[in-house]
Amino acid sequence: MELGLTVDGERFEIDVEPRHTLADVLRERCGRTGTHVGCEHGVCGACTVLVDDEPVRSCLMFAVQAEGSAIRTVEGLAGEDGTLHPLQQAFLDRHGLQCGFCTPGMLMTAVHLLDRCPGADRDTIREEMSGNICRCTGYAGIVDAIEAAARSR
Ligand code: FES
Ligand code: FES
Repeated sequence: MELGLTVDGERFEIDVEPRHTLADVLRERCGRTGTHVGCEHGVCGACTVLVDDEPVRSCLMFAVQAEGSAIRTVEGLAGEDGTLHPLQQAFLDRHGLQCGFCTPGMLMTAVHLLDRCPGADRDTIREEMSGNICRCTGYAGIVDAIEAAARSR
C-alpha cells in the first residue's frame, strides 16, 4: 500500500505492507532508528512518538493508520544546529538517562506532557510518565529532569 506521511518535517511517500508497524517503518524506511522497540506489545513505552501531537505506541499502530499524519520523533527534537531541546538538555544535566534505551519514549511523552501542562508539578509528572518503563530504574533522575525543564519554561 502507498503511504504518505511527514516525519520531523520531512515528507515520505513509500510502499508498505499492511502488516508493518509504524515503529518498523519509522526505523527501517524513514531512518528514525532513535525510536526504540522494546516489548513490542504496548507495555514499555520505548517506541512512543507523537502522531498529530498525540503520544502513540508505534509498536501497536500499523503504519498505514498514519496515512496523512505528521509524526514527531526524538530525532526531530534538537535544533538544526544541534542545540538540544530543553528536555534533552535537562535529561543530560539531571542524570535522566543511563543506558538510554527508554529515553526516546520518555522524551516524547514528556514533550507532550509539558505542551499540555507547562507547569507540571512532581506528582503530575510521576502520574503522566507512569506508562513508560525504565529498565535501568532511573526514575528519580527522569522526574528531576522533567521538573527542571518545566521550571525553566
Ligand atoms: Fe512499544 Fe514497548 S516497544 S510499548
Ligand atoms: Fe536504561 Fe531507561 S535509561 S532503560
